Amino acid sequence: MRKYNVYGNTEGVRDALLAKLEELYSYELEEGEFLPRELMAILADYSCRLNREIAVYITRDGEIVHVAVGTDCDVELTDFRLRRNARRLSRVRCVHTHPDGDGHLSDVDLSALKIFRYDAMTAVGVRDGAAVNVQTAFLQSDTEVLMPPCVPWHRVPDRDWLAQIEACDALVGAGETRQVSDGPEKAVLMGIESRESLEELRRLAETAGAQVVGMFLQKRDRPDGALFIGRGRAEELAREAQALDADLCILDEELTGIQTRNLEDVLRIKVIDRTTLILDIFARRASSAEGKLQVELAQLQYQSTRLIGQGLVLSRLAGGIGTRGPGESRLEMNRRRIRERMTELRRRLAEVEKQRDIRRKSRERNGTPVVALVGYTNSGKSTLLNALTGAGVYAEDQLFATLDAVSRRMETSEKTEYLLVDTVGFIRKLPHTLVSAFRSTLEEAALADVLVIVNDGSSPEMAAQHDTVEQVLQELGATEAPRIEAVNKCDAADPWPTFPGAVMISAKTGEGLTELKDRIARALQENHAPVTFRIPFDRFGLVAQIRPLGRVIGEKYTETGEELTMMMAREDALRLVRRWGLEMPEDGGESGAE
Ligand code: GTP
Repeated sequence: MRKYNVYGNTEGVRDALLAKLEELYSYELEEGEFLPRELMAILADYSCRLNREIAVYITRDGEIVHVAVGTDCDVELTDFRLRRNARRLSRVRCVHTHPDGDGHLSDVDLSALKIFRYDAMTAVGVRDGAAVNVQTAFLQSDTEVLMPPCVPWHRVPDRDWLAQIEACDALVGAGETRQVSDGPEKAVLMGIESRESLEELRRLAETAGAQVVGMFLQKRDRPDGALFIGRGRAEELAREAQALDADLCILDEELTGIQTRNLEDVLRIKVIDRTTLILDIFARRASSAEGKLQVELAQLQYQSTRLIGQGLVLSRLAGGIGTRGPGESRLEMNRRRIRERMTELRRRLAEVEKQRDIRRKSRERNGTPVVALVGYTNSGKSTLLNALTGAGVYAEDQLFATLDAVSRRMETSEKTEYLLVDTVGFIRKLPHTLVSAFRSTLEEAALADVLVIVNDGSSPEMAAQHDTVEQVLQELGATEAPRIEAVNKCDAADPWPTFPGAVMISAKTGEGLTELKDRIARALQENHAPVTFRIPFDRFGLVAQIRPLGRVIGEKYTETGEELTMMMAREDALRLVRRWGLEMPEDGGESGAE
């Protein structure tokens, strides 16, 4: 039997009518409408047919997020109160019918308004299948209610009542509690996996600007469905958090929207998960236009899978960690707006990616190979790029200091030019939404000719971090390019890590960098070598076609034609030979170079 998204006392209600009630979710109010006559007529009709109360909950964006059926004299009211800031109004108004024909609000209605802090509470009196009169009340403070007189159903002052909501919201929000600028947020961390993962969460939290006041680990294989950590543990955590005066709890795993909300109910402080924290750090770090688009898309994607109930996005009025982003003001959007915004972001990203593709193609065309530095976050990639190139790239002892791919031109001692690219750091449990949003940036690494994997030799977690990097590379399909393993921070490593075949370096002291450069040169050499084409005079036109495919390093005229020596990928050279039937001198072309 089909389950309808209609709540409350639906027993005995025919499927056809439940389906009609469910259709209310797609009803969209126009701007400036408090309660459209048409919606009133529908509610009156259904309510009379059932002889039961019907309640709909409408957001400030004009979206219906909850539909419930009650008895003939009441309907169970739903709590949409925002935990993020319990003082503000809930951004949702409750409109319900009174099938006894009287639209006056009852005492029960008014106390629900106070408890649940609805934007407004509205009753519609209905009789004989039609609306009769309507009354609405607004909350002015914790205890005061403003209740204009009941009006005939066709005299609802839409704009006045909408304006009243805004005015009341300003009034009740006036004594707003915590401001973000009050100092760092105090966070308690809760993990279920391992101490190492929790320790990393601490670094992430600090990177996001929090002060970690407590860390708790409760190993469990399977999270509890409703509360993630089990009720008993959650209640204990609530006491601990209170004793530590924490105002934020960060869970080391991904939570569902419902779990977050349930935990907030028990803990009575803001709850975020690891992914939200990482997204928050990314949001603050993104500096390029593309990075900002990618982060916003990732945040919205994550958020859209976590809408509470029928799609109510928790208002993030309280601010702070977990609420920041390029689209900050948009964090309060409803489902429809989120969808629209995501489409827009994808379109703009596609444009940027096209540009990037053009740049990449032009790079391929002139044959400059790419060497990418990849590795776990904080392993020292940016420092290494600086040490190798003298480029001023932001390097800091923080996670995800660099978000945007940075590239610098380099040259081997044999004068092979290449681009050295620093990429975004990897991390365990890298949120999936991020991998997909940052795909094009990460693909920069996937498409590189040579990968330098930078490992943090000073971290006891080096092996586990290497596994993560490996996993992400697999996910990106970056398995073909030759790899150079580098163990960085050797100056600080104690004991000396074992990593057979890896080059030991210190980006800080410069140790091992010459060997690293040599290895890069060798790896490039294997792929990118000078090749010479012998082009007869009668096919001289080919010279102009081949030139842009690589870097010309020598031209020599012989009796029969020209010998053109170029730096290019072996593969490209062989393709040209096959295609145009060109000859390559026996010695691989070295003789062709001047
Ligand atoms: P993400 O941007 O998070 O991916 O970090 P990253 O891999 O680019 O690391 P970054 O270069 O920002 O360096 C992280 C920290 O490690 C900084 O505090 C550096 O000073 C430090 N570091 C980098 N290389 C070395 C090294 O060879 N020895 C020591 N002792 N510290 C290093």
